[in-house]
Amino acid sequence: MKKSTKLLSASSFQALFWLVLPITLVLVLVVIGSLALHEQAMRQRLPEESWEAATDPALELTLVAPLLLLVPLAVAGAAFWFGTKQIIRPLQALEKQATALAWGDFESIRQPVGGIVEIQNLQQGLAEMARKVQASQEGLRDYINAITTAQEEERRRLARELHDDTIQSLIALKHRVQFALDSVRDAGSRRVLQELGELAENTIENLRRLTRALRPIYLEDLGLVTALEMLSREIEHASGIRVGFQCIGMEKRLDPRIELSLYRIAQEALNNVLRHSQAQEALLTIEFGDQICLEIRDNGVGFQLPASLTDFATRGHFGLLGMRERAELIGARLEVFSAPGEGTRVRVRI
Ligand SMILES: Nc1ncnc2c1ncn2[C@@H]1O[C@H](COP(=O)(O)OP(=O)(O)OP(=O)(O)O)[C@@H](O)[C@H]1O
Ligand SMILES: [Mg+2]
Repeated sequence: MKKSTKLLSASSFQALFWLVLPITLVLVLVVIGSLALHEQAMRQRLPEESWEAATDPALELTLVAPLLLLVPLAVAGAAFWFGTKQIIRPLQALEKQATALAWGDFESIRQPVGGIVEIQNLQQGLAEMARKVQASQEGLRDYINAITTAQEEERRRLARELHDDTIQSLIALKHRVQFALDSVRDAGSRRVLQELGELAENTIENLRRLTRALRPIYLEDLGLVTALEMLSREIEHASGIRVGFQCIGMEKRLDPRIELSLYRIAQEALNNVLRHSQAQEALLTIEFGDQICLEIRDNGVGFQLPASLTDFATRGHFGLLGMRERAELIGARLEVFSAPGEGTRVRVRI
């Protein structure tokens, strides 16, 4: 970054300050002293001296003394203006950039904030650190991409096996129980068989739900909007929280990888609503415009956002971090807004 010769460094600012301070003090003392002298002289002279003597020009001079205060005041004003423009504002801008950096925004730290040389050096240091972190993250991202793809592949395989093997066997079992029930007359045996049939039926239903979560078939067959609508209904059914669904604009089909990522983010965010929010209602919105915006919000208890989502990972919570990774893999940006008592909003824009 280019260093401007016009800039004052912190040390010159300090020197200016130490120069102005004693001058200001001396001037203030002179003004106070001259005012006291003036008052004393007036008191002594007024009773016995003529008006001309009492208004001696030398005494009048002391009346002008307060004007001298204007000089240190002007200097103090200039120092205040300089401090605000060259130190406080740049530091505030840098603080905002550092917060954005903690949330994974590597671009904003490169915008110049101005200010004294030391602040510019600090920004340069942060930008350099951000560049290194970004480079190492890019390496990690390829790895995460490979893991996510493998994970989706594994989920698909599991869903297929559950559907083609386990669920089919359970259906066969249920039919056999039904045959047995038709041929048995003993009341005790019939009750046991009926319970077996109900157990098989419930297990089939649970496994179907698990299969749908593992492999969102609505997504593949009917597209993102229908899949998101089904997802909101399923979560509403499982939690008792009213989950609204809203689609704004004309749906357009996206790359299957993008659709799957958006679906997984919505799924994870709604699972968080179900597990942590204690909300009465939630709303899932997808908007198709120049950008595609997916938003999941609830009116629940909210939570204190840490300085960075990675702080959650060190405490063993990976959901929000995983959502952000998924978003970044498809070139989207994930934002989380929450505060205790104010609900939670997760937004992804691509
Ligand atoms: N909608 C929400 N309402 C209230 N708190 C939430 C919400 N979403 C997340 N949180 C808080 O943020 C924390 C981190 O969420 P995250 O999804 O990263 O982890 P987790 O749900 O605890 O575990 P997992 O790794 O299984 O997802 C949660 O433990 C919870 O305290
Ligand atoms: Mg979670």
